[in-house]
Order: sequence, then C-alpha cells, then structure tokens
Amino acid sequence: MEDRMISGEYQSSDQEIELSLRPETLKQYIGQDKTKKNLSIFIEAAKMRNEPLDHVLLYGPPGLGKTTLASIIANEMEVQFRTTSGPAIERAGDLAAILSSLEPGDVLFIDEIHRLPRSVEEVLYPAMEDFCLDIVVGNGPSARSVRLDLPPFTLVGATTRAGLLSAPLRDRFGVHSRLDFYETQALCAIVERTAEIFNVAIKQEAAEEIALRSRGTPRIANRLLKRVRDIAQVNGEEIISQDTTHQALEMLQVDQQGLDFIDHKLLIGIMDGFRGGPVGLDTIAATIGEESQTIEDVYEPFLLQIGFIQRTPRGRIVTPKAYAHFNREVPGT
Ligand SMILES: Nc1ncnc2c1ncn2[C@@H]1O[C@H](COP(=O)(O)OP(=O)(O)OP(=O)(O)O)[C@@H](O)[C@H]1O
Ligand SMILES: [Mg+2]
Repeated sequence: MEDRMISGEYQSSDQEIELSLRPETLKQYIGQDKTKKNLSIFIEAAKMRNEPLDHVLLYGPPGLGKTTLASIIANEMEVQFRTTSGPAIERAGDLAAILSSLEPGDVLFIDEIHRLPRSVEEVLYPAMEDFCLDIVVGNGPSARSVRLDLPPFTLVGATTRAGLLSAPLRDRFGVHSRLDFYETQALCAIVERTAEIFNVAIKQEAAEEIALRSRGTPRIANRLLKRVRDIAQVNGEEIISQDTTHQALEMLQVDQQGLDFIDHKLLIGIMDGFRGGPVGLDTIAATIGEESQTIEDVYEPFLLQIGFIQRTPRGRIVTPKAYAHFNREVPGT
C-alpha cells in the first residue's frame, strides 16, 4: 500500500521533521486539556512526595501525540526516558535486562504495549506492582524462584488498540489517558507553532485550512504544512497564503474534510454500486479491490468518526452527510 498523505501512521518521511517538532513540556503540548491537567496534578503530587509517578497508559489513534506525551512526562519528572516497544521484547529475559538497568524514578516507555508476548507480560506484573523480578534459577526439580528488587520506576505504555490489552495488564496502570482527535483550533495552533520552528510565516486562514484537512491529527497537520511550505517556496511566496495552501492541498488530493482518493473510492463505490448501502464489508472489499481487514482497520475509522459511514447489522451505509459532501442527492428522496 502506498503512503497516504492523510494517514495518521508514522511514515519514514516524517522522521526528519518529527524530532525537531516534539514539544518538550506540558505547556508546549497543545490541546488534550483534560489529559494534560490530570497529568500535571499527578506529576506535581509525585514530585512533592518524592516518589515515582504512577504507571501511565496512553491510548488513542496514531499520530495524536502518545510518544510525545511520554517523553514530556519524563522531562517534567526530571528523570531519564528509556524507550522500547512491545514487539522488540521477545523474551522475558529481554525485559528483565531492561528493568534491572533502570535508575530510580526512570520512565520506561513501552510503545505498542498490546504486542508484548504473554510470557513477557507476566514478568511485568510483579515489576509494576512491587518493583521486583521473579526469576527462576536452575531447571527440573531443583529449579527455584528468586526475587530480585528493582529500582522504583514509572511504566508508560502506549497503544492504538487498547481493546487488545489484557485486563490484568490494563488494571496495573494507575493512570489511563485516552487521547482524542484534536479540535480545529488546537490543530491550528500546532500548525502555527510548527511554522515558527520551520522559520516560515503563515497566514492564519492558511493555518486553518491545513487544520481543517488534517483529520484531527497533529502528525498529518505537520506533514501537510511541510508540503504546503515547499510549494509556497517554489512559488516565491514569503507568507504562506490561503490561496497557495488551497492549491497545494488540491494538488495533494486532500479534500476539505481531509479525505483522499481512497476515501472517495470507498464512499463512491458504496453510493454508485449499492445505492448507499447497506452493504457487507466483504462485498465492498471485492468491489473496490481492497482487503476487508484494511478497510476495517485503516480506511473506515475516520469515516465512521466524522459520520460519513455507519455500521448497521446489515452492513455499511453511506450517510446523508457524505452525500452532501459530494453534492449528491440521497437516493429515493
Ligand atoms: N499536542 C501536541 N502539540 C504539538 N505537537 C504535537 C502534539 N501532539 C503531537 N504532536 C506532533 O505530532 C507528531 C506525532 O506525535 P507522536 O509521535 O507523539 O504520536 P503517537 O501518538 O506516538 O503516534 P503513533 O501511534 O504512530 O506512535 C510529533 O512529532 C509532534 O511533533
Ligand atoms: Mg508513538
């Protein structure tokens, strides 16, 4: 599958900008006010007690700022930030090695924590609860379990699929924070902040135009701004205007709602082929030549989120809102 401009998932071309754009403090982190407020209280309290922060679970769609927030937590706690990920820890021993190398108070960030193997998860339970490791030495009848103390630490777990987390693991996090899609206003502020770091000037209407098409996702907003900047530069424009932004986004085939040709193919496929549905997922998949799983995991969530598609027991339907977006009439009206 080719990289979509408007996918929230990390792409290799994001690499050059993301590091320089990452906010470092809660204050610089725009939006997500509820999460920020909670975290700042917990952080302050933990610091007053001179204890590590409770374990934090961050969940939400890709590109909303989970990794960023995790590193901010370490920063605000003034401790080291150690990172790893679920798929990177294959055996219990790998995790034991990481845990025993932590310094007191450190933040250990485990990305994609839903992908931790079960055998590794079991090592994590006593580590999270009592800061210790149960290690089996020897084998056969002479095997015995030894308890090793660990320095107290904070585990920050991130996942895009909270539903896949096992209940015992989920329950061991004291703080659960769900990141939501960003409001246009917050995204606009993010675009303006990014422009400042890029050292380019942008009109507010232009920033808004980008914000509106970014699917509530900072990663997409930054990616779009980068492309718009390039086009403005080629056009010799000193302050990025709304006109140029509009043209650039049309050229990138990102429409006013942040939809691209794949979204269009999907929606128009249901409108034209099935009078707007209901139609089963597998039928849609066959019609537009995509895997059902991809439609369900990648294409559909945003369309459901903005109310362009609905799931019914008899299949998917395209809503009047989507018809209006395409300037079409709902069949039978
Ligand atoms: N609240 C925010 N304020 C400013 N910039 C943000 C904010 N949240 C995210 N960003 C920007 O968006 C980019 C993507 O964020 P991040 O990598 O933290 O997302 P993520 O949720 O970890 O994504 P993934 O699920 O793919 O791991 C960051 O480089 C950062 O520049
Ligand atoms: Mg991340």
